[in-house]
Amino acid sequence: MEALALERKQEQNRELRVRLEQLKKERNAIILAHYYQRDEIQEVADYRGDSFLLAQKAAETDAEVIVFCGVHFMGESAKILAPGKTVLIPDERAGCPMADMVNVDGLRKLKAQHPNAKVVTYINSSAEIKAETDICCTSANAVKVIESLDAEEIIWVPDKNLGQYVQAKTGKKLIIWEGYCNTHDMLTVKDVIEMKAKYPEAEFVVHPECRPEVVALGDFVGSTTAIIDHCRKSDRRQFIVGTEDGTGYQLRLDSPDKEFHFATKFLVCPNMKVNNLKKLVKCLETMKPQIYVPPAVADKARTSLERMLQVR
Ligand code: 13P
Ligand code: SF4
Repeated sequence: MEALALERKQEQNRELRVRLEQLKKERNAIILAHYYQRDEIQEVADYRGDSFLLAQKAAETDAEVIVFCGVHFMGESAKILAPGKTVLIPDERAGCPMADMVNVDGLRKLKAQHPNAKVVTYINSSAEIKAETDICCTSANAVKVIESLDAEEIIWVPDKNLGQYVQAKTGKKLIIWEGYCNTHDMLTVKDVIEMKAKYPEAEFVVHPECRPEVVALGDFVGSTTAIIDHCRKSDRRQFIVGTEDGTGYQLRLDSPDKEFHFATKFLVCPNMKVNNLKKLVKCLETMKPQIYVPPAVADKARTSLERMLQVR
């Protein structure tokens, strides 16, 4: 960006941040931002986090309004866990392609074929799918959730990559749906080998939404928060990061003296990036768009999310 345009943008953002603080007080609002959001949103969040932490915060907050800066299923989970609150999302087009890869009819058919199976659903799914689910999980607690179940058969939806990772970790056989994250699944073995050749001292840290053969190359495998915690505590100075680019904000904040190289320039989730600071301020001004979940669906889906929050 040329210098003048950059200066103008910084000035605009300063004004937007002032307006945001006023609106937050007026509306009694809290801002939750996923680690994959743009830096300008993460900067102003009350809580930054992964899917698990943000679901916990939504369930606990006293604020009347939750602005969920993430994708739609995250806003839905907040609304399900805090049905009395108003939940806003800066741009309602922020969806998750993986969440759309599983549908209720297909899941019901699978349940009919395996009537004794428990259904474990990754939180990256719609409220309707959660309503058909025994227990949800995130990438941070998937292994613990599977280990907590006393079941011969487990149906796992929708992420096949995370499913295979969890299966290998727990030794439990899962019936795995064929969904995947368009962003993490884009990372290839070739990309990682090239990066390792370029940065031979670097540790490769990777999210289990990546393909199994990519995960197998990881020096450390974990959820977004686990990766951030690991890099902060590690003695190593250089990292190749196999998760979404927005994570760089927290990584660099925690360790300004370390180097973080993203494993490919394609590790950017376009859905996460449709939200921006301007839309965040506007949604608090207009109180739109709001997340709506039909109460009958929310009531059924809540149990699966609450069970997840109880797993230790
Ligand atoms: P976590 O927040 O659980 O790491 O999930 C990653 C993701 O892809 C969220 O959409
Ligand atoms: Fe969905 Fe992947 Fe984007 Fe997360 S990073 S919102 S799983 S497409």
